[in-house]
Amino acid sequence: MTQTLTISKIRPAPPCTIVILGASGDLARRKLLPALYNLRACGQGLMAPETTVLGFARRAMTPDEFRTAARDGVKRYSRLKLDECCWSEFAKHLDYLGGLDEPDGFKVLRRRLEEIEAARKLPPNRIFYFSIPPQALRDTIERLSAAGLVGPAEGENFSRLVIEKPIGHDLKSALEINHTLHQHCAEQQIFRIDHYLGKETVQNMMVLRFANSIFERVWGTRNVDHVQITVAEDEGLGTRAAYYDQAGALRDMVQNHMLQLLAMIAMEPPVSLDATAVRNAKLDAIRSLRPIAHEQVRAMAVRARYAGGVIDGHPVRGYLEEQGVPPDSRTETYVALKCFIDNWRWSGVPFYLRTGKRLARRSSAIYVQFKDVPAILFNRDGRLTPDVLTLRIQPDEGFSFDVLAKEPGLDLAIRQVGMNLSYEREFSDPSPDAYERLLLDMMIGDHTLFISGEFVRLSWQFLQPILDQWRDDPAIPMEVYPAGGWGPDGGEALIKADGRKWRNP
Ligand code: BG6
Repeated sequence: MTQTLTISKIRPAPPCTIVILGASGDLARRKLLPALYNLRACGQGLMAPETTVLGFARRAMTPDEFRTAARDGVKRYSRLKLDECCWSEFAKHLDYLGGLDEPDGFKVLRRRLEEIEAARKLPPNRIFYFSIPPQALRDTIERLSAAGLVGPAEGENFSRLVIEKPIGHDLKSALEINHTLHQHCAEQQIFRIDHYLGKETVQNMMVLRFANSIFERVWGTRNVDHVQITVAEDEGLGTRAAYYDQAGALRDMVQNHMLQLLAMIAMEPPVSLDATAVRNAKLDAIRSLRPIAHEQVRAMAVRARYAGGVIDGHPVRGYLEEQGVPPDSRTETYVALKCFIDNWRWSGVPFYLRTGKRLARRSSAIYVQFKDVPAILFNRDGRLTPDVLTLRIQPDEGFSFDVLAKEPGLDLAIRQVGMNLSYEREFSDPSPDAYERLLLDMMIGDHTLFISGEFVRLSWQFLQPILDQWRDDPAIPMEVYPAGGWGPDGGEALIKADGRKWRNP
């Protein structure tokens, strides 16, 4: 019988009120409300029963209408099936305030919060979740603050701000947002969310690396040939043209999710599991990224956009034909990037990053490819395939280690075989959704899985030359790739130039 060792940092969260700013939007309906419902329904009592969710948005709606919309969201998107008993308990703690005009809206919000707290005997612990368009962020912080809602925490109580990506559009705007935040509250009150950090397999990366003795010994330039990170999506941009066409894949996926994955795979062992130690270790990794000079952008980064094609046997349209996309759009839906981490551990090891929409399938994984064995014994003619450790983030979460083995028989035949762990097959308990874990952590006040202001700054600083060149240099091509494939020729050429190739899951 295998024993489970629980090194638990999770503890019951104190009661609080979660104010969802922008509660009538998609994120609230698809992710936040279902995740809160799941926490209430099966969060092992970690979410305090009195915790109340107050939706706040421009749209006028009664609390009952909000509950109906929330119920629909839970029914459609919740990990757990809607159970009438759990739902009625959850619904009792849902409220809504909307349709208010500025400048008084936030003052009314404050009064409503105070009434809720008095009526439900809740302490003034408040979480403000910014589920609003990025351009409204700074204004909203200022208005909340002017209404006296984000002041410094008093005594035992707290007031926290949860900020969704994108945090800024480039380095300058990200710095402005950080500045506005710091004018009104302390870094400790800020929870910058990246839902990739709430994914089970992303958290498993630390366990895999630091709870096993084998991997750290081979993790670095002496043994690793290169690392690939692929986040492939088969979906197009859906109904998000207004946001996505202003962003593109570099801002939407690389600046946040992919650089977080890179930091997790490359960081040094933190000195403890404390949030500051873990976040500092990631910062060191990202600080060691070799800057890409403007004149190197062409050789290190590829951009492209999808044309029409076929996915799962269904024809799909190209990006420029998507609803809401201007016909002269220059927005990329695919990025491939090569980078180096100039520290002792990773010196000279290339990291290849690739993400795109409308690729062959939804599949995200990290591949750590080890060096070739010497060209002697079995590898005299250099034909042996190298060992690869694959961390599958989604779907079929798990990892596999591909090594060479002798095929049974009288011949000496060698073949690559995989040692495979599938989360689903190994563990009977389903994984919580990323938002469940992150919402609980913000109620508890644990910053480990949230992004620091400094990480935001460093990530934009690293990407800024690419953004500049893509904007200013008309000679840099915007390639086109057919939907349903693995991306443009340029993406293949980027890695092929180094004698390597992408691993397609
Ligand atoms: C979001 C991006 O942050 O992540 C989307 O804005 C993308 O464009 C999504 O589709 C991918 O998340 P997941 O969890 O489905 O891999």
